[in-house]
Amino acid sequence: MLFRSAIAYSPNDSTIEVACYEDHRNVVISIEDEGRGIPTPDLERVFEKFRRLDEASDRGKGSGLGLAISKGFIEVMDGRIAAASPIHEGRGTRILISLPKSRATPEGLL
Ligand SMILES: Nc1ncnc2c1ncn2[C@@H]1O[C@H](COP(=O)(O)OP(=O)(O)OP(=O)(O)O)[C@@H](O)[C@H]1O
Ligand SMILES: [Mg+2]
Repeated sequence: MLFRSAIAYSPNDSTIEVACYEDHRNVVISIEDEGRGIPTPDLERVFEKFRRLDEASDRGKGSGLGLAISKGFIEVMDGRIAAASPIHEGRGTRILISLPKSRATPEGLL
């Protein structure tokens, strides 16, 4: 869902970088694109249901639910999600997801 948004809001010839890290407590997933980015005042708002930033230029690209649904899933697993933008030369978005490993135990899945 988030990878598809990175594609939808980026130029065709740009790079999307997906990376995964871990420390002793968390698994962290990062999805970075080189698209137009998200204006700073909207960085939290884009996680609201049906929130879309530019109806005219984004027509047909989505429903405004991707980030809200992702946030819902991640938060039930006690994880966190945040957007950072711009990330290079005034462009690009990074979505960071952090999930606690404690919830990845067999008990956590039941
Ligand atoms: N990687 C991104 N780069 C720039 N803008 C983005 C990015 N991801 C989301 N946005 C902005 O945030 C809004 C909300 O994103 P979200 O993924 O929740 O919904 P959507 O992409 O519109 O629809 P869908 O439900 O299909 O994902 C988008 O409409 C777009 O304006
Ligand atoms: Mg989306």
